[in-house]
Amino acid sequence: MNAIAAVSLDWGIGKGSDLLFHIREDMQRFRSLTSGGCVIMGRKTLDSMPGGKPLPNRRNIVITRSPDFSREGVEVAHSLQDALDLAAGDDPDKVWVIGGGEIYAAMLPYCRLCYLTRVYARPECDVFFPNLDTKAVWQILRSGPIVSDGALDYQFIEYINRDLP
Ligand SMILES: NC(=O)c1ccc[n+]([C@@H]2O[C@H](COP(=O)([O-])OP(=O)(O)OC[C@H]3O[C@@H](n4cnc5c(N)ncnc54)[C@H](OP(=O)(O)O)[C@@H]3O)[C@@H](O)[C@H]2O)c1
Repeated sequence: MNAIAAVSLDWGIGKGSDLLFHIREDMQRFRSLTSGGCVIMGRKTLDSMPGGKPLPNRRNIVITRSPDFSREGVEVAHSLQDALDLAAGDDPDKVWVIGGGEIYAAMLPYCRLCYLTRVYARPECDVFFPNLDTKAVWQILRSGPIVSDGALDYQFIEYINRDLP
């Protein structure tokens, strides 16, 4: 499986329950990569989505410790292993860890690729993605040009986990 995230220069990904960036091309890329697949997220990330609703056209697996949690259109996992078991029958290239900070940190060792949108900005943030540049197992596989949406410069970068086949 893979992870996908938009990160600031400080590896920030969120402030409270909010995203740091709303870049149209980044949103479109997220939708096009993950549609038709399976997304795995933490309960706080689900709650941060409009209306707390799952993403359409995707299997939505949500990880929570709460035994009573249920939400329409969501498959509930009570541990990381539960989530891995639920997704085990899916094509691994179409299983996506989509956040947030706790879930990225816990599930990165199971991810083969990280599709990052590196945004060249340093907004205030309190939720972070692990800094892959300090982890020897993660290496840059591909990086695109630095582009701008008029307000923000950003770059699509793929990292590969050398620990996984
Ligand atoms: N930039 C990006 O690409 C991106 C993407 C996604 C999210 N975000 C941002 O990330 C932030 C949310 O991240 P977060 O770290 O606060 O929360 P999170 O990772 O979305 O969810 C954390 C929750 O997941 C559950 N959980 C975590 N580990 C678990 C385990 N081992 N077993 C069972 N349940 C577990 C718990 O739910 P319960 O409390 O229900 O038990 C925990 O409170 C928001 O700011 C959001 O906007 C950014």
